[in-house]
Amino acid sequence: MELVIDKVCKSYKQNKALIDFSLTMTPGIYALLGPNGSGKSTLMNIMTDNLKSDSGTITYDGKDIRKMGRDYLSLLGYMPQYPGMYPQFTAEEYMFYIAALKGVKDPAAQIGEILGEVELLDVSRKRISSFSGGMKQRLALAQAVLGDPKILILDEPTAGLDPKQRISIRNYISRIAFDKIVMIATHVVSDVEYIARDVVMLKKGVIVDNAPPAELIRKIEGTVWRLNTTEDRVLDCQRKFTVTNILKDDAGVSLRILSDTKPDEAAYSVAPSLEDYYLSVFGNEAGHAEAGE
Ligand SMILES: Nc1ncnc2c1ncn2[C@@H]1O[C@H](COP(=O)(O)OP(=O)(O)O)[C@@H](O)[C@H]1O
Ligand SMILES: [Mg+2]
Repeated sequence: MELVIDKVCKSYKQNKALIDFSLTMTPGIYALLGPNGSGKSTLMNIMTDNLKSDSGTITYDGKDIRKMGRDYLSLLGYMPQYPGMYPQFTAEEYMFYIAALKGVKDPAAQIGEILGEVELLDVSRKRISSFSGGMKQRLALAQAVLGDPKILILDEPTAGLDPKQRISIRNYISRIAFDKIVMIATHVVSDVEYIARDVVMLKKGVIVDNAPPAELIRKIEGTVWRLNTTEDRVLDCQRKFTVTNILKDDAGVSLRILSDTKPDEAAYSVAPSLEDYYLSVFGNEAGHAEAGE
């Protein structure tokens, strides 16, 4: 099972959203990581045939997905970033409706099981209009998973979830991903740091990295520092370096700093994380993306 994206381009008028995007996917979880506006949703819309690319092809086991038509769509589970739902439906009705659209045979047992996994079983007879953002988000994931799709495309699946729900959804996704091609778009590094086999970093429509998380982290070994300092020096450090964390407690201020060279006599080297790497690539851009959360 192989999904090959080959030199896909997409512009909205003058705005190039995706430039020569190429990626070969086999079963496993791929993280599509990048700040808002980097082209993640555009790619996913093209991969799910909801949007036409300007050029390039996507093939599934050698066959063009556009020519496969329904045969391709039946392999697909898709959770859009802004799913349209029917507010008058109950969660259960909605699931049966999607099951019918997908042609899922004998859906009842599956629907119960999936709603249980996303912790919506006890509200399955409630109308969607009464759901919180996080509940709608979990229902959107539930419908994507219906029918045991071979290809699962999830656009910001944990947006609007609290930390406990994030972890539970993350575990659920990695558990069902074993025999599937899964792509998760996110700008939240912790969503994918420990579950993605490969991280595809997207910057303004261009792949800047495509490697396992550990490999990306290795790239910045020796450039992450901790500096215990005083409050009055924080601004100065932020001007000179990328400061990825500021912790203030009774002992003073502790900064986490990205720098190729030792930023201060008193600084000491610490082990890098994927988030450090993300910030080394995106710097301030990444900060804006997080603020939009
Ligand atoms: N329907 C659209 N019409 C015009 N521009 C769009 C449309 N959708 C996305 N864009 C632009 O394309 C770029 C990529 O957007 P998007 O794919 O939504 O990125 P992401 O999902 O990473 O936030 C952005 O500059 C965005 O403004
Ligand atoms: Mg998006």
